[in-house]
Amino acid sequence: MMKEQLQKIKEQASAEIASLTDAKALDDLRVKFLGKKGELTAILKQMGQLSAEERPVMGQLANDVRASLEAAINEKSAALKAAITEQRLKTEAVDVTMPGKIRRVGTRHPLNIVLEDLKSIFRGMGYTVVDGPEVEETKYVFDMLLTDEGHPAREPSDTFYITDKTLLRTQTSSVQIRTMLKEKPPIAIISPGRVYRPDAVDGTHSPIFHQCEGLVVDKNITFGDLKGTLENFAKSLYGNDVKLRFRPHHFPYTEPSAEVDLSCFKCGGKGCPLCKGEGWIEMLGSGVVRPEVLQNCGIDPNEYSGFAFGIGIERVAMMRYNIDDMRLLYENDSRFLTQF
Ligand code: DAH
Repeated sequence: MMKEQLQKIKEQASAEIASLTDAKALDDLRVKFLGKKGELTAILKQMGQLSAEERPVMGQLANDVRASLEAAINEKSAALKAAITEQRLKTEAVDVTMPGKIRRVGTRHPLNIVLEDLKSIFRGMGYTVVDGPEVEETKYVFDMLLTDEGHPAREPSDTFYITDKTLLRTQTSSVQIRTMLKEKPPIAIISPGRVYRPDAVDGTHSPIFHQCEGLVVDKNITFGDLKGTLENFAKSLYGNDVKLRFRPHHFPYTEPSAEVDLSCFKCGGKGCPLCKGEGWIEMLGSGVVRPEVLQNCGIDPNEYSGFAFGIGIERVAMMRYNIDDMRLLYENDSRFLTQF
C-alpha cells in the first residue's frame, strides 16, 4: 500500500518536473513533494503503523524516492538556468565585427584661439578682461566718445538702431566709458566682443565681427606707452621680426590718433597677394584719450592721462592663419575649422 503510494509520488513528481518550464514552478514543486507539509513527508509520518519488518524496507524506499526527486529537481534547475543564459546570449549578443561609431571631437574656432592668445598676452601685461553689452546706448557708443549728432559714424546706413537712443554697438569703445564711470585709475583693461555694422557680406566684411578694446589710464601715460604696449603685443603674437607702422589718423575720442599696420606675416614686408602688395596689414586703431573724455567720466585730466586701442580680431586671425576670405570664419564648415 505504502509502496504504491511512494511509487505514485515518484512518477507524478517526475512527470511534473519534466514538463516544467520556469524556476518558480520548480520551487513550488519542491515544496509540494519534499516540504515539511509535503506529500512525501506525509507518507513518512505513517511509518509508525508499519510492522517491524516492513519499516526499514519502506524507510529505504522512501529515502530512495527523496534522493531521486532531489536529484531530478537539481538537474532541472541547472537546465533552466542554462536555458536562460542561452537566451540572453542570443538576444544580447554584440557583433564585435561591426564598424564602431565615430565620436568626433570638436576643435577650437580660429577666432577663439586668437582671442585666448590676446587675453593671455594682455593679462601678462597686467590687464583685466572686462565685458560690455552688445545692445548699447548711443550715450556710450557716441556721445561720451565725442562723436556728436551728424557724425558719419552715427548714420543709420552705418548703424543698426533699435530706437533713437539704443543700438547694436558699432565698436567696443563704449566699454571704455562704462569702465571709467565705474572705476578710478589706475585702469588697464581689455574688452573683447561682438560689434555690428550694416555691411554687405563679402571677403572682408561681415555685419557681425569682433573687436578687442583696450584702455589704460594712469599718471603720466603717453603715446610712448601706447607704442611700447602695442609693440610688445604684436611681437608676442607674431614673433620678434614683426614691424609696426603708426599712421596718423582721426578718431573723435583720441588725440593724437593712429592706425597701426603690422608688417605682413607672410612676406615680411616685401609685398605679396595677402597684403595686396603693400607689405603692411592694418590691424587696429589707437590714440591718446582726449582730456574731455576723461573729464566726462569724472577723471581729472590734469592728474591722469591714458591711451586706448581697438583691435580687429578677424584681421588678426586672418593674418595669422593666412585666411583670404572672412566668410570662412562664419560658415562653420568643419573641413575648414578642423585645420586649426
Ligand atoms: N573704435 C575704433 C573702430 O571701431 C577703433 C579704435 C580707435 C578704438 C581708436 C580705440 C581708439 O580705442 O582709441 O574702428
